[in-house]
Amino acid sequence: MKVKPVVLLAVLLQACNGSVEPAAPAAGQTRQDAKPVAAAIQSATAGYDHHSYANPHEALVRHLALDLTADFEQQVLKGYVVLDVDRVVDNAHELILDTRDLDIQDVSVRRDDGWRQTYYRLEEPDPNLGSALVIDLPENQYSLQLRIRYRTSPSASGLQWLTPAQTAGKQHPFLFTQSQAIHARSWIPLQDTPGVRVTYEAVIRTPSDLLAVMSAENEPNTPRDGEYSFSMPQPIPAYLIALGIGDLVFEAMGERTGVYAEPGLVEAAAAEFADTEQMLITTEQMFGPYRWGRYDLLILPPSFPFGGMENPRLSFITPTVIAGDKSLVSLIAHELAHSWSGNLITNAAWRDLWLNEGFTSYLESRIMEEIYGPDRAAMEDVLGYQRVMQEIEELPESAEVLAIDLRGKDPDDVFSNIPYTKGQLFLTWLEHEYGRERFDSFLRQYFDAFAFQSIKTETFLKYLQKNLIDAQPGVVSMSEIKQWVFGPGMPASVVVPESDAFERVAALSERWQSGEITASEIDTSNWTVHEWRYFLNNLPQRLTEAQLDDLDSSFSLTQSRNNEVAHSWLLIAVRNEYAPVYERLEDYLVSIGRRKLIVPLYEELAKTIEGREFARRVYAIARPGYHPLAVRTVDGILSGAG
Ligand code: BES
Ligand code: ZN
Repeated sequence: MKVKPVVLLAVLLQACNGSVEPAAPAAGQTRQDAKPVAAAIQSATAGYDHHSYANPHEALVRHLALDLTADFEQQVLKGYVVLDVDRVVDNAHELILDTRDLDIQDVSVRRDDGWRQTYYRLEEPDPNLGSALVIDLPENQYSLQLRIRYRTSPSASGLQWLTPAQTAGKQHPFLFTQSQAIHARSWIPLQDTPGVRVTYEAVIRTPSDLLAVMSAENEPNTPRDGEYSFSMPQPIPAYLIALGIGDLVFEAMGERTGVYAEPGLVEAAAAEFADTEQMLITTEQMFGPYRWGRYDLLILPPSFPFGGMENPRLSFITPTVIAGDKSLVSLIAHELAHSWSGNLITNAAWRDLWLNEGFTSYLESRIMEEIYGPDRAAMEDVLGYQRVMQEIEELPESAEVLAIDLRGKDPDDVFSNIPYTKGQLFLTWLEHEYGRERFDSFLRQYFDAFAFQSIKTETFLKYLQKNLIDAQPGVVSMSEIKQWVFGPGMPASVVVPESDAFERVAALSERWQSGEITASEIDTSNWTVHEWRYFLNNLPQRLTEAQLDDLDSSFSLTQSRNNEVAHSWLLIAVRNEYAPVYERLEDYLVSIGRRKLIVPLYEELAKTIEGREFARRVYAIARPGYHPLAVRTVDGILSGAG
């Protein structure tokens, strides 16, 4: 019997599990390059993306038309998608799509006289990748349309259905998608690889009092009638297809920018993020035109598992950064920056994620510097540097490289600051070596050269060599570059960020630690949230109860309403088993579902028997409100023995 290709891929993935990817691109990674029939499929090389079953090098999906009804009672999306497919090679007789937990009702192919059902099969699911949907292609047709009728599962990994009680307004339910990295397949059957880009259109049907928005052209003043049409004319990868439905209203922030949020939040959000328009203008000045029309924000309920998600034209944003003082708006700079790095030029596979996140973190810092000044940007850079250096101490070397081997792994499980901060520091180093002006013009040229394409690490390196390294010889060598991209740890050439403000904080902190002054004698009158975070993050691991009392009574840290400051303080408190915070901690863990803020707290709690008991009790209350991704992570932390 012939082995089915999908089964073979699963076996390969299995066999590769845990292996270390060598520094240079391995033969197995690039396999044989498909004939580049179009720029769009240059990156869709057979076997390159280990997290998709799709065969875009044989048959390529170019456009999707969705017609979906959101059924809040059943917690399912149901309807159909029509795929426009191009046959890429003559002998392609199957289209392979990614799916996860989808209930496929039928698959039809368009004929002159209407839709005709066609043969398909759903392969056995893989726990990380889902199930390949294999559809027979009609003979002798080079462009065709397929219609798949389906419904999602109530436990779809890319959807969170919220009850009214889980929203700010408490009156209406809410639904949002989170497709990155490989969850689009849990709500649309498609080629779920960032190497493939599609345009899309959609009709979304909702209860008539709710509004739907998508990562597409949104019409801010659309009548609220339960039927919404969207079109996304620029080609985007599957992980950027996004949908939000809720009791949403819109408020403009600028000519091209605005915010969608629940009515009770929209004003605070618009005030907090009032600098978005200026950020957009500044980024264009530095790195070239914004090519997506509008840039709006969607404020999600607090269970959103990320800080932000760069869905094109409409970034999804956690409400936990609405601090009242713009102290956490670097998140907006970050998601906006993805409109260049990530959405315009996309990583071809998750191995190349640093091309998205490293460039974006670099742009984020540049935007922050322009809008809020170099001192603030420096403080944020130092905090990021400290975070990644701490992480490097704990990570295995194989996880410290920028182009990381993810074969056999779920990309969600290997998430770290390496692609972000090490990637940023790599670019900062290049800027330092070539000068800002030269490096900026290189970046602008890069964004033009690969606009709307998906590229591999190696493609970038080749471009870098040609347009910067060889163009200006004698500055840096390709072997230094390879060390940054494929080597572990932080290269010695790193430009370590520094902040004068933090040095003043460090000096005061030392005097307090040595007992020379009490907490109330530390002059914190000019401290911003950043100084507080630096102060807290750099205290010794062990503090006495008297020291903790001194800090809390002087600074009311347990009461802090800044979610980052509260996070840093709660972490210290848990580490030192400081009883007075536990009520606040419970409230924090139950009301917030953003992974970055809650996961370290659960991890710290899980280190002691009492902590674990507390965590399990609180988690039992919090879990029904968490997103499937957060549930997966926290289940993993608390499931151990003890
Ligand atoms: N695209 C990411 C979020 C993401 C990455 C989701 C990988 C799934 C897989 C987004 O742009 C991001 O990086 N968010 C950060 C904020 C940022 C300021 C570091 C977050 O959510 O914390
Ligand atoms: Zn990002």
